[in-house]
Amino acid sequence: MDEQSRLKVAMQKSGRLTDFSTDLLVRCGLKFSRGKDQLVAFGENMPLDLLFVRDDDIPDLVEEDVCDLGLVGLNVVAEKSLELAAKGHPTRFEIVRALEFGRCRLSIAVPENFSYDGVRSLAGKRIATTYPYLLGKFLTDNGIDAEIVTLSGAVEIAPRLGRADAICDLVSTGSTLLANRLREVEKVLESHAVLIRTPVALPASKGEWVERLLMRIDGVQQVRESKYIMLHAPRSALPAIRKLLPGSESPTIIPLEGHPDRVAVHAVCRENVFWETLESLKAAGASALLVLPVEKMLA
Ligand code: PRP
Ligand code: ZN
Repeated sequence: MDEQSRLKVAMQKSGRLTDFSTDLLVRCGLKFSRGKDQLVAFGENMPLDLLFVRDDDIPDLVEEDVCDLGLVGLNVVAEKSLELAAKGHPTRFEIVRALEFGRCRLSIAVPENFSYDGVRSLAGKRIATTYPYLLGKFLTDNGIDAEIVTLSGAVEIAPRLGRADAICDLVSTGSTLLANRLREVEKVLESHAVLIRTPVALPASKGEWVERLLMRIDGVQQVRESKYIMLHAPRSALPAIRKLLPGSESPTIIPLEGHPDRVAVHAVCRENVFWETLESLKAAGASALLVLPVEKMLA
């Protein structure tokens, strides 16, 4: 297969999304090897190559058709879209999937000694951020006039350096804020990873691989919480038991040899199965309960 027909997927070089992004593609069946510090990894069993870049560059790479797909935080995508809109350009990439990793939030935080009493307290203050457009929108939406200090990094030390009174930055565990004696006071955006794609029509062979990948991603995301549950029960308990099976549409009911009044029930539960659920099932008459992880799923 020639260079042009290989899918190019941009992902974060090193950071909070890197391991989850490669893990997702591995679960989708991709085999690749990446040398240390290597910026490109070639898929060995799919016509798909990975480009490891700075997360902030991913929307541009997809916009400019250097890459066909990108795995990136919604925070980066939302900031880029606002920036493009402000400059009068329509957004040219499309979000095709919300992914379940990379959860964090863009928040405003203030130093411990800042007496904060609601969003009004930010009026007239300097707020340091690498997300000037998202912060600007938040301030406008709240009718607050404040100065946005746009930095390229190390936002969390800006108050200590006297460059700002508050910051607006990503928070996930909160340890960066804690280490810098900052307190989270407003949430600007809830974020998680997303898959973006170029809006240009792809050649058929590439387009087909995008569709296959999307289907596999859906399968991977579905099975993460899914469990296969097996149990025995008296026929009369079936209505009660079906109500208790979390997120399962149509369980398989199998007669038990030599026990006309008893059946085996097999079901895929699309939600986690907790001990409490098993206890309720048992109380409803179920026995021989078995819960198995689901490895792959294709609807
Ligand atoms: C963010 C943010 C903080 C840190 C917060 O940076 O700028 O430094 O993560 O996470 P915590 O609450 O778990 O301490 P990130 O790693 O996303 O890098 P980037 O903003 O430079 O891409
Ligand atoms: Zn970044």
